[in-house]
Amino acid sequence: MNIAILGTGVVGQTLAAALAEKGHTVTIGTRDPAETMARAAAKPPAKVSFREWQQANPGVKLATFADAVRSANVVINATSGVGAMSALEDAGADALGEKILIDASNPLDFSKGMPPTLTVCNTDSLGEQLQRAFPRVRFVKALNTITAALMVNPAAVNGGDHTLFICGNDADAKATVKRWLGEWFGWQDIVDLGDITAARGTEMYLPIWLRTWSALGSPMFNVKIVR
Ligand SMILES: NC(=O)c1ccc[n+]([C@@H]2O[C@H](COP(=O)([O-])OP(=O)(O)OC[C@H]3O[C@@H](n4cnc5c(N)ncnc54)[C@H](OP(=O)(O)O)[C@@H]3O)[C@@H](O)[C@H]2O)c1
Repeated sequence: MNIAILGTGVVGQTLAAALAEKGHTVTIGTRDPAETMARAAAKPPAKVSFREWQQANPGVKLATFADAVRSANVVINATSGVGAMSALEDAGADALGEKILIDASNPLDFSKGMPPTLTVCNTDSLGEQLQRAFPRVRFVKALNTITAALMVNPAAVNGGDHTLFICGNDADAKATVKRWLGEWFGWQDIVDLGDITAARGTEMYLPIWLRTWSALGSPMFNVKIVR
């Protein structure tokens, strides 16, 4: 498949490396490719600069958000919560069309330090804001409740027996994403929480996720919904 991943951070890098290794054509989108390649420092939690990462992953292309999306069959949003709307606006409604967009972003505001707060909650969510702004795009909120390394390798914790939440308005898109996440990364226990308003819940889970990370001293954990 031809996959566009919007975002040069650790999530974009991790997803891109895993999908390219599986033989997909992957293009990462960024605001300014030349500026991104010129950055010398790593931006935590990424361990190396994007330039160094790209040298180790030469099969993954880097392009503007618009160029990355134009030829893609599917789009993954891995931009910061505060930058997500602007990134999709740069990509453009025409290029996004009716594509499936897997949204892994969280509406985290780090401007007042740690822990971050949510820019939107309770009666709205980033997932809903993006869906309202791009009504034709088939958003599936997924992967935002686990650390990047676990997104592509659920087996790294509890043999892969833990739960991934998805939600979105388009039933076919959700069924397709569910299948892809199984095929790509081995996800087995995927719970569909309903329409895109369920993004309120998966995004408001972040304060618990952050405190658990702090309590355990490692981001390699997830929840399991036991029936
Ligand atoms: N880190 C994790 O393990 C993890 C786990 C689950 C979910 N998430 C979520 O996944 C997303 C990506 O996280 P991350 O840690 O990989 O990276 P990040 O630092 O949160 O985001 C980096 C990306 O956001 C873009 N960006 C920032 N401000 C922007 C703006 N004003 N306009 C357009 N684009 C902008 C950057 O563009 P440039 O390339 O142009 O700099 C870059 O591509 C976040 O929403 C995060 O909450 C992260």
